[in-house]
Amino acid sequence: MFAAKAIDTSDKAAFYRDLATQLKALLDGERDSIANAANTAALIFQMVPDLNWAGFYFLQSDEEMVLGPFQGKPACVRIAVGKGVCGTAVELGTSMLIKDVHDFPGHIACDADSRSELVVLLEDDEGVFGVLDLDSPLPARFDKADQAGIETLAAIYAASSSFED
Ligand code: SME
Repeated sequence: MFAAKAIDTSDKAAFYRDLATQLKALLDGERDSIANAANTAALIFQMVPDLNWAGFYFLQSDEEMVLGPFQGKPACVRIAVGKGVCGTAVELGTSMLIKDVHDFPGHIACDADSRSELVVLLEDDEGVFGVLDLDSPLPARFDKADQAGIETLAAIYAASSSFED
């Protein structure tokens, strides 16, 4: 049984280093992309403070993503590339750090409690294949240290999982 260990969150860089070690241990020996996404979302939601949603959207075509495994309230299933924070991340090819979602035109509100959002890209050798999305009920919850830490977790997930049909 995997048991996530409590981590001191006062030093974010150290926190995310420790969380990356735990994620590698959690995914070790398993390549199933859905199972690994489910466990990645669960670990993040359990360990990262002040989240109300954490989960995956996967590209189904060049134009549209579909909801993957997540923790939090039920969410919108399909997001067009270029729409919302998630679709904008894919369109621009970059992470999105949104201090206040009310100030982001086109933000897609899945949970009215969400006030800030961090979206990072999922990438493999063939390019972007989706996003990992974190929401918080606190304004300005995420900073560059969170972005760097979550980008590392997304890369661990991508490297640990197989996407062949
Ligand atoms: N807020 C996102 C939609 C997904 S939910 O937050 C789970 C967006 O604007 O793309």
